[in-house]
Amino acid sequence: MREQYNDGGLDESEAGDDPQQLFASWFDDWKATEPFEANVMILSTVDRDGWPSARAVLLKDFDDSGLVFYTNYLSDKARDLDIAGRATLTFVWKPLFRQVRITGTASRVPEQESDEYFASRPRGSQIGAWASDQSSVIAGRTALEESVARIEHRFPDEVPRPSHWGGYRVTPRVCEFWHGRVSRLHDRIRFRIETGSDVWIRERLSP
Ligand SMILES: Cc1cc2nc3c(=O)[nH]c(=O)nc-3n(C[C@H](O)[C@H](O)[C@H](O)COP(=O)(O)O)c2cc1C
Repeated sequence: MREQYNDGGLDESEAGDDPQQLFASWFDDWKATEPFEANVMILSTVDRDGWPSARAVLLKDFDDSGLVFYTNYLSDKARDLDIAGRATLTFVWKPLFRQVRITGTASRVPEQESDEYFASRPRGSQIGAWASDQSSVIAGRTALEESVARIEHRFPDEVPRPSHWGGYRVTPRVCEFWHGRVSRLHDRIRFRIETGSDVWIRERLSP
């Protein structure tokens, strides 16, 4: 397969000292490139036996304190997150020759934050959050559709947030920014923070 990398890259001066700022800048570049659901990321977790699993979720917010997504608190991923309290988020922005990997601690966002976000969602998504017992085995599509009908009937007007649905915030400890370069001589800049410190350590990794 042909290499497609251009000559651009990631040097230390572009990387700066703050991974959140670099993420924001790269995410802006990506949003300008990808018109549909540019906020997709892969969430990786491990279960109590150490088995990994990964799935796509949508990034809904990020700031100094971390990256937020929403899900069902009874799902497989939630069980993993509640036990391990750790997660990795991976963003593959192939047309820009970029990848970002973020590993950190994961915890539920405050209930009020979940309430506000839930209230902003379309009614269909709100009904879905009640109707779907995410990650459980169901008899068939009909069971899901019947569940939706029951919930529609139960909440003819406003739909409250189910207590089993809300956000997680992943607070980064390690962030790696990868930029593809020719001949596999890619740029990899890693930021990491040590326990108890608030200073990011920046280092370059061999590709
Ligand atoms: C593009 C895309 C975005 C998704 N966004 C979410 C999301 O934000 N939250 C969520 O719970 N599931 C989302 N899903 C579904 C998950 O990938 C997954 O199927 C589901 O959450 C169940 O995962 P689990 O059984 O590992 O807990 C998304 C799937 C795709 C393909």
